[in-house]
Amino acid sequence: MRAIDIITKKRDGLELLDSEIADLIKAYTTEEIPDYQMAAWLMAVYFQGMTDRETAALTLAMATSGEMVDLSQVAGIKVDKHSTGGVADTTTLILAPLVAAAGVPVAKMSGRGLGFTGGTVDKLEAIPGFKATLERNEFIVNLQNYNIAITGQSATIAPADGKLYALRDVTATVESIPLIASSIMSKKIASGADKIVLDVKVGSGAFMKNQADAIKLAETMVRIGQLVGRETVAVLTSMEQPLGSAIGNSLEVREAIEVLSGRGEPALREVCLTLGSHMLVLGGKVLTTEAARQQLETLIDNKQALAKFGEFIVAQGGDAAILYHPAKLPQAKFALEVTSDSHGFVNEINAAQIGYAAMLLGAGREYKGQAIDLTAGVVIKCRIGQPISIGQPLAMIYSNVESKLNQTASILKKAISISNQVAESPTVIIGIVTQNSLQID
Ligand code: URA
Ligand code: CA
Repeated sequence: MRAIDIITKKRDGLELLDSEIADLIKAYTTEEIPDYQMAAWLMAVYFQGMTDRETAALTLAMATSGEMVDLSQVAGIKVDKHSTGGVADTTTLILAPLVAAAGVPVAKMSGRGLGFTGGTVDKLEAIPGFKATLERNEFIVNLQNYNIAITGQSATIAPADGKLYALRDVTATVESIPLIASSIMSKKIASGADKIVLDVKVGSGAFMKNQADAIKLAETMVRIGQLVGRETVAVLTSMEQPLGSAIGNSLEVREAIEVLSGRGEPALREVCLTLGSHMLVLGGKVLTTEAARQQLETLIDNKQALAKFGEFIVAQGGDAAILYHPAKLPQAKFALEVTSDSHGFVNEINAAQIGYAAMLLGAGREYKGQAIDLTAGVVIKCRIGQPISIGQPLAMIYSNVESKLNQTASILKKAISISNQVAESPTVIIGIVTQNSLQID
């Protein structure tokens, strides 16, 4: 194989063979192909796109570039879930114990986040004593015993994706639907999921700013799943405003506890119940999403989901007392309430700006490996469409650095706009894409 021939073929809009894609990825992973040739190929893909067959071949080539986790020792259908990234998106912390409590094994390998807040693993590390790195054997044993285990994603999972993603990041080739779809799916497939539920975010605070692109991404990933034999369902959800109210690691653990206790932000609860329902159906526990939803609501009401969260925390070395005494979670030294300067209605809560503010406070990372402040963040106190009057709270800011409070307050005041026109509250669940259907509300 000559890399230049594969680059030329893609540049000219021809369909690549599975073997050509496999050879290219293999040669890049073993550093037989330099970054400049791979960058040229990525740019050709960016402009020419890929067929579903090519995208599936790329997904498998990246998935098999490293360890393929084998969860066959764990009984039951393992259903994984992935969210394409948003603000105040605490879904994994809620869904994992909720779905595990319903009897579906939840095996998650999560990344450390880049961006607004940490990833799931960072959030869990806000729990005193929690151990987020499990040996493969411990991971399997915990799954067998408790139906739930979450560990940091090791560098052995889809290393080709890690290398390619870093290159895309600096060559303006991130925003390509086949490249995003194959990147996400390769990691899920390598992590051992039998079936996959995707939460594809749409809106100003998301990767996909408009519905048409989000549908295309969702359909591409569902078709990859079908082609590689891992049934996939995608739920399109709104990211026009932060999903929950908390943005920040310790603060999001607190919010997860709220939702698992039957309280919390209704939009966050709704997304969790919808994703969870599809996980239960794919996991073979119930036949319909309606029946699944009822079961999940019961597990919240009777506190079994919360108890499962506690069991999981203890199994990974953490202190489950935080469930009943959230003040035991690490807390920032300083807090500031941001209040409204005007009367009217909340008509915009810019999720991207609020995420950025949380990152400046230290809740997220601008670069890989950066230390984060688990206590820092923002709690939003209003929703789009809500009436508001002068002096009413818009948000709370938490930080260990007092000087950051005022700086963040001015960002938040700009991000939350008040007008005298009533704004409609955004629909939370926008649509569902399955192998056989596309439903858009
Ligand atoms: N998330 C990923 O894992 N990969 C992408 O390409 C984009 C988002
Ligand atoms: Ca997330």
